[in-house]
Amino acid sequence: MINIALAKGRLAEEGYKVFKALGYSVPAMEKKSRKLIFESPEKGLRFILVKPADVPIYVEKGAADLGIVGKDTLLEKDRNLYELLDLGFGKCKFSVAGLKGEDKNFYPGPLRVATKYPKVAKNYFLKRGIAIDIIELQGSVELAPIIGLSDVIVDIVETGNTLVENGLEVFEDITPLSARLIANKVSFKTKNGVMETLIEDIQRYLHRQD
Ligand code: PRP
Ligand code: MG
Repeated sequence: MINIALAKGRLAEEGYKVFKALGYSVPAMEKKSRKLIFESPEKGLRFILVKPADVPIYVEKGAADLGIVGKDTLLEKDRNLYELLDLGFGKCKFSVAGLKGEDKNFYPGPLRVATKYPKVAKNYFLKRGIAIDIIELQGSVELAPIIGLSDVIVDIVETGNTLVENGLEVFEDITPLSARLIANKVSFKTKNGVMETLIEDIQRYLHRQD
């Protein structure tokens, strides 16, 4: 049985569509429910719906053989696993943003950065040689510069609507992001027929989309 961890939410939906298009459908997945595990014994696979930030550890520990998760989560969690394919959906970017029209010369003093992605923010500003104080939040980080909790935020920008609607703007782009197929290292090396076929099928599917 191959276990596939899908990042709960939009990426899981898009990810499941890929498997469905390849003939690995599990009809129960298409119904609205609170179920977290979906099995297809005849196809030899099992989908598990996992909080996005937890997908890398499921895959690293081998609880899942494969996973679909955003590059944002992979950069932040930095787990020991294989990143096999860029799936091409879930496209967005990591950006630094702040109050629209703000004077970007924040010196002196460390820049106060609010984010759900402390590792990504630290790495970025370290490379830029800018001293920062991280204010780690669990979400809605756009509030921080408005309320005066931080000077800037590091967050995901997709359409840019959240920034605009809160009077913020992108100061700098950090890196583009998208959904990735990841694999447990041992499962990948000892991959049996099903796993091998699955990965090849997904690769072929992606080429067809080009
Ligand atoms: C994400 C992200 C931004 C927004 C970007 O937040 O953190 O706030 O979406 O999308 P946009 O550019 O299309 O507006 P999410 O809704 O996932 O909530 P959270 O930050 O509270 O976790
Ligand atoms: Mg948000």
